[in-house]
Formats: sequence, structure tokens, C-alpha cells
Amino acid sequence: MYMSTDEIRTAFLKFFESKGHQIVPSSSLVPADDPTLLFTNAGMNQFKDTFLGVEKRDYTRATSAQRCVRAGGKHNDLENVGFTARHHTFFEMLGNFSFGDYFKQDAIQYAWAFLTETIGLPKEKLLVTVYETDDEAFDIWHQQIGVPADRIVRIGDKEGGKPYESDNFWQMGDTGPCGPCSEIFYDHGEHIWGGPPGTPEEDGDRFIEIWNIVFMQFNRQADGTMENLPKPSVDTGMGIERIAAIKQGVHSNYEIDVFQQLIKQVAEIIGVEDLTNQSLRVVADHIRSCAYLIVDGVMPSNEGRGYVLRRIIRRAVRHGNKLGSKEAFFYKLVGPLATIMGTAGEDLRAQQTMVEKVLKIEEDNFGRTLERGMLMLEEALDKVKGDELDGETVFKLYDTYGFPADLTNDVARERGYRIDEAGFEAAMEAQRQRAREAGQFGTDYNQAIKVEHGSDFCGYTGTEGTGQITEIFVDGDTVDSLVSGDKAVVILDHTPFYAEAGGQCGDTGVIDTDQGRFTVTDTQKAGQAIAHYGSLSEGQLSVGAQATARVDAARRHAVAMNHSATHLLHAALREVLGKHIAQKGSLVRPDGLRFDFSHLEPVTADELKAVERIVNQQIRENSPVQTEVMDIEAAKQKGAMALFGEKYDDQVRVLSMGDFSIELCGGTHATRTGDIGMFKIVSEAGIAAGVRRIEAITGQAAIDSVYQQQADYEAKLDEAQSKAKALEKQIQQLKQKLAAQESAGLINQVRELNGVKVLISQLDGADNKALRSMVDDLKNQMGSGIVLLGNVANDKVGLIAGVTKDLTGTVKAGELVNLVAQQVGGKGGGRPDMAQAGGSDVSALPNALASAETWLAEQL
Ligand code: SER
Repeated sequence: MYMSTDEIRTAFLKFFESKGHQIVPSSSLVPADDPTLLFTNAGMNQFKDTFLGVEKRDYTRATSAQRCVRAGGKHNDLENVGFTARHHTFFEMLGNFSFGDYFKQDAIQYAWAFLTETIGLPKEKLLVTVYETDDEAFDIWHQQIGVPADRIVRIGDKEGGKPYESDNFWQMGDTGPCGPCSEIFYDHGEHIWGGPPGTPEEDGDRFIEIWNIVFMQFNRQADGTMENLPKPSVDTGMGIERIAAIKQGVHSNYEIDVFQQLIKQVAEIIGVEDLTNQSLRVVADHIRSCAYLIVDGVMPSNEGRGYVLRRIIRRAVRHGNKLGSKEAFFYKLVGPLATIMGTAGEDLRAQQTMVEKVLKIEEDNFGRTLERGMLMLEEALDKVKGDELDGETVFKLYDTYGFPADLTNDVARERGYRIDEAGFEAAMEAQRQRAREAGQFGTDYNQAIKVEHGSDFCGYTGTEGTGQITEIFVDGDTVDSLVSGDKAVVILDHTPFYAEAGGQCGDTGVIDTDQGRFTVTDTQKAGQAIAHYGSLSEGQLSVGAQATARVDAARRHAVAMNHSATHLLHAALREVLGKHIAQKGSLVRPDGLRFDFSHLEPVTADELKAVERIVNQQIRENSPVQTEVMDIEAAKQKGAMALFGEKYDDQVRVLSMGDFSIELCGGTHATRTGDIGMFKIVSEAGIAAGVRRIEAITGQAAIDSVYQQQADYEAKLDEAQSKAKALEKQIQQLKQKLAAQESAGLINQVRELNGVKVLISQLDGADNKALRSMVDDLKNQMGSGIVLLGNVANDKVGLIAGVTKDLTGTVKAGELVNLVAQQVGGKGGGRPDMAQAGGSDVSALPNALASAETWLAEQL
């Protein structure tokens, strides 16, 4: 009877729920409490601490359908994915777990009942294995379940291997929970080549392992010894794709419903007819891991998990290109996948748009170099003598065109070549070395020193300390003493100087002895020692001398404030933007801090404000900054944020600020958060796909920046005001110019009234101050005559009248102006030859001027 993948998943969870198991959702692909594990690779990962008895849950039986990624580790099979029946980057593991509850008997009985009754597999098709010495499991299978003895295979330790190195002894890793296991195999039939487990033909495809039942009994220690777990437990795992293949009557996982639907989608999106093309399988497999890795917060990058993701995406894009795709296609599969995954698609559906965006950006970026890279690769392959492509070319493809080495290997392999992996690694290492050297502080400091003595750091509590000079280096060589001002490196057995680490810059200051002073301009780690870089500024310095080391306390204080603020910023970002925020880099200096983190989009102004507000609120909380040294397990238990890929010692320093921030950190910090004073973000920008950078300042610098900002605003305001004044002046000048031009035109409006030249006119917006000179001007031009001008400016009326001397006996300018002024709500007067007045009734002006004309006609 056919069952879809979705039906199988539901049937499994329901079956175990009916047996008293708690259905637990799949955990993230990024293991929450294990920075050493690349990706979640088994259902039991999220229960590791429960098996060990460190974590208590309120149930003792659980079941889950766990998403898993197995790719990118030391032994990764990425290049096989798509070309075999059962290799995947992503798969789902169905599992049931007992935490000190039931053990072998129930575990075996449940598995058998589910397989043979619930989903109806024929018993005769099944075959089981047990660990060689596990008679108990053998007897349960044989006597209680009734599996014939010849279908129960005992598998021992590998020949020449270590104890417990066996297919039937499962270990999570070099340490951790482990125990003997019993596996169930399915016989796909005689038509397929292969033999039962334990035979020379076991690697064939006929007998396929479908379910692994681990009897968790031990906690493996680093030295290989096995400690008993608090209680015997059970961890099982069944790949859903394999069981779906059986229930759907197919042999290859790629033929099951989920993959067939996905393959059809890929073919449709790219426009491929031949559904058997293996590149379709590659793409169908890869979209699953890529989409879910992004859902779980992994972003494409050049290191760690992000680089594994990037490699898978690029491999998919290359295969899409091989299928004929000319544009971004991979991201278009996210929507179909979210549907196809059925009940396991919920998390993806919730984040579909985000996942599409990340993939599209990554695809577009790589798409730009893919074709040119392929051209270069094809050309290089044409020239290969022998069967190996040289490491330099592989490196160049990586460095210039973004081709991960396994992608180049993929292409080379298709054409029957190998790549020189060692040569590639050597070229990579040479580049890392160049980068390291370029990152040094200048050639003077570029001293490869080999320090014999270690140093104790005594600078957590103070900035001054005494120690003995144990070594001095000049140009990389040890010397007994320093006598001139040469650049040198000084090592002390005890020192309060903090060596650059964890993003915090090295201290500066002075080292004094009876004989002289050494000025420290930087402090770096040199193995177990703390190396003071600088130069002799007074006297001399000798190995063996007692010294007083003084860190520049003000600078250190500023650095410490910025370091504490960085922790608050990190926690605030997680609160505002989400738990996907992971630290990607950090730089803490006296003049500010820089924090790089994974986030897809620019942080909006509102979000930045919220982050700033939270950090400042935490500063005002004035929580004590506490440090505690504890073992790494306890730190994780406490919820301390650790960096993936960072190697931590067993004993770690945990730094907490109230409940708000708990991080592993070796740096120097404020005593209380209030010491930071104030926090201010100065910039936010993207520095790589999916990585943002925030720069910020604290304390006096932050306060100064507020004053500075205010001063800037004031200066800008002053500037704007004087600009406005200048503009106003310019307008006045323009108006005058305009009036002058108008007065030049006015002369044409002169008419004769009873034989006398008369000019009556209304002006608009002329400068009242300019009217007088205008009238003088007109009178001069007329020689003999009468001028009356009404000007409307700023909603007011300005009036002026001029009468040439020869006519003042007949008409007086004052009378004329007054006549008009009275009608526009004003009053005026003046000399007989020139009079001015004002008024407020602008609308009455035209009639008033007309009445003046009538009056003049009577007078003249
Ligand atoms: N942890 C075991 C495995 O991965 C059973 O789930 O095979």
C-alpha cells in the first residue's frame, strides 16, 4: 500500500504518541548547545544533555522528525550527491527516544510493530543486525519477535580498529553518549546486486539499512573510557526518504514523491525536458539543505557553516547552468519546496520570502562570475597534461571566480580529471599568510618572535603591576639588553597589559625599570606570552630587571567601556532583529566600537533607535558586570553566547550583565553597566552579503557627539539664516532693478492733459525707497510735468507725487498725494515739488489714481 512521505511522517509520530511519547518539533540545523558540531546530524542531538542526565525534561519518552544536514564536515560526500541512490545533503530522521525509561525490549518491539503492522512491511523482507556480544538484543529479536536466527547478523568491531569501532556501536562523536545498536535492513530484492550486512557484498544496494536502534548506555570520555549513563536509554533513527522509497515501490530515494515533485519543478523552471538528467537531482537535493539552513539562520559566507552553505548553493547554480539556465532559478524553488515538504514545511513557509531573498542575492553574485570561471576552467582542462588539474588554477578559480574547490573538482571529474587538492591547500595557505602579514602593524613590528616564557595577565583588576623582564626581541632575535631607541618586543612574566584578542585592541603604556623606560605602543599575544611592542624612550633595559608596567589607564578605560557596550549591543540586536543575529566580527578600540553581524537587510532607522534605546536603558540599569570562570558545559547551560568555530578551553570565562547579556569573553570590562555612560550608534552599513556593520561610540565621546551634533545644527541654522538674509537682499536689489527698468518704461506712459505732461501709474512691488529717485528721474526726462505713482508692496500702498518747479504754482505735490492717500486709508504730505504718503487699502488704489486724474484735469 502506497504511502506518501507526509503520511509516513504523521503515522510515525502518531504511533509513538500512542505509546506515551511526547512529539517534539525538529530542532534547528544549527545545534543549540554544541559549537563543535557543524550541523544537526541526528535526531538525538537536541537530547544529548538529557541522555547525559544534565538536562531534565518533563517527559521520559519523545519522538521527532528531525531535519538533518550531513555535508561539509571533514569527510563530506557532497560530490556524490545526486549521482547515487541515497546520498543527500539534507534528510529527515524519524526517531523515538527513551530517557532512562524503556530499554532494549520495548525499543525493539515498537520498531517491529511500526514497520510490520502500522505501515505493513512484509516480515520476510526484513533482516536485523546486533552488536556481536549483545546476546540480550539477539534473544529479544529471536525469541520474542520471532525473527529466524539466520536473519539476525552479529556485527563486531572492525578488524584492526579500536574497541567499539563497529557498524553496530553508535557514537555521537569522540565524546558523548553512545552504545551498541541494532539495525533493521530491508531487502529490495534479488534483481539488485548486493549481500546482507557482514558479507563481502554488503556495500551493494540490495539490503538497505532503514532503522538504527541505539541502546544508549555510555558516555564516552576524551581518553576513550566509557562511563555509564545515569540510566540506560534509547535513541533511534530512521531516514524518512528510505522508508518512503519502500512504501512507494521504488529503489532510489530520488524516485520518491518529494523528489519527483521537486525534480518536475526544477525542470519546469529551467525548461528541461529530460527528467532523468542527474543535474536535476543535484538541484532538487540542494534546495532542501540550502533553504532549511537559511531558515535556521545560516548565511552564505566564506567561513564555517556559511561556507558550507555557499558551496552547496554554488554547486546547485552550476548544475542549473549546466541544465541551460541563464538566469537566477534556484530561489524560485523555495515556494514549491515549502508546499512539497507538507507538515515539515511550516518553518520554511513562515520565512519563505527571506529565504528567497538570500538565495537570489547569492545566486546573482555567483552568476556574474560563473560563466567566465567556467571558460577559464574549460581552457585549463584542455591544457592539462596527465590527469590532474594543478592547485594554482584551482586556487585562482576560487579566488577570482568564487569556485569552491569541490565545484571545480565536480567539473574536472566530469571530464575525467582530478584536482591537485594538496596544491590548492598550499596556495590557500600562502594567501592566508600574505593576508596575515598585510594585517600586521607595519614592517617594524613584523617580527616572527619565538617566546620561551609564558606571561601571567594581571590586568583584569588594575592597570599597574610589577614583573620581571624575561625576554627582549629586536628584529625577531633575542637580545640581553636594549640601549638605543630601537623598536623592540619586551616580555614580562607578569603584566597588566591586555594583548589584542576577541576584537579588543592591545593596551599601550610604559614599562619602567631603575634604568630606563620602554614605551609600549601595542600588545599582542605570542603563544603563551604577552608581547609588548614599542621602543626604548629613556635609558636602557635589560633582561632580568624588575619592571613596573603601567597601562595607559584612560585609554584602557575607554576600551573597556566600548567592550561592555559591544556585549549590550549584541544582546539588543538579538532582541530587536531576532535570534538569527550572530557575531561575525568585532573591533573594540578606545575611540569606538565596530560590530559585524549576520542580518539580511539594512537595519532601519527605527530599529537602530530601538537598539540604541535598549542599550542606554541597560546602561541606566547599572547592572554589575560579573565574570565567572566555569567549565564550558556549565557555561552553555547558563545560556552563554559562544562563537561557532571558535575553539574554547575547557575552562571558560563567562561575562554577564544582569540577565540581559551572558557571553564567553576574555576581555576587560566596565565594573557596572552605568560606567559606560551613554551609547550612540554612528553608522550602519552592509559589508558583505548578509553581513551588516554597526559602528558606535560610548561615554564622553557619545556625549561629545551630541554636543557636536547640536553645534552642527546651530551652525547649519546660522548658515541658513544668513543665506536667507542674503537672498532677501538679492531680491531687494532685483526689485530695484526691475523698478528702474519699469521707470524707463514709464516714460512712454506720459500723456498730455490740457497741454501739461502728466504721468499717473500704478507699480507692483517696487521698493518704496527707490520711488524718490525714480520720480526725480522721470521729472528730469519730462522737463516739465506732473508724476503720480502708486506702488503696491507687501500689501501696502506707497504713494509719491512729483511736480516740476514751473508747475508748483498750479498743482502742489502734497495736495495731489493727499487726495489719493485719503482714499486708500492714509495720510500724507510734503513739499510742493515732491510728496510721499502711505496707505493700507490696496484695492482702492486704481480708483483713487483715476480720481486724481480727474482732479488734475480740473486744476490744469
Ligand atoms: N543516532 C543514531 C543515528 O544517527 C540513531 O538515531 O544513526
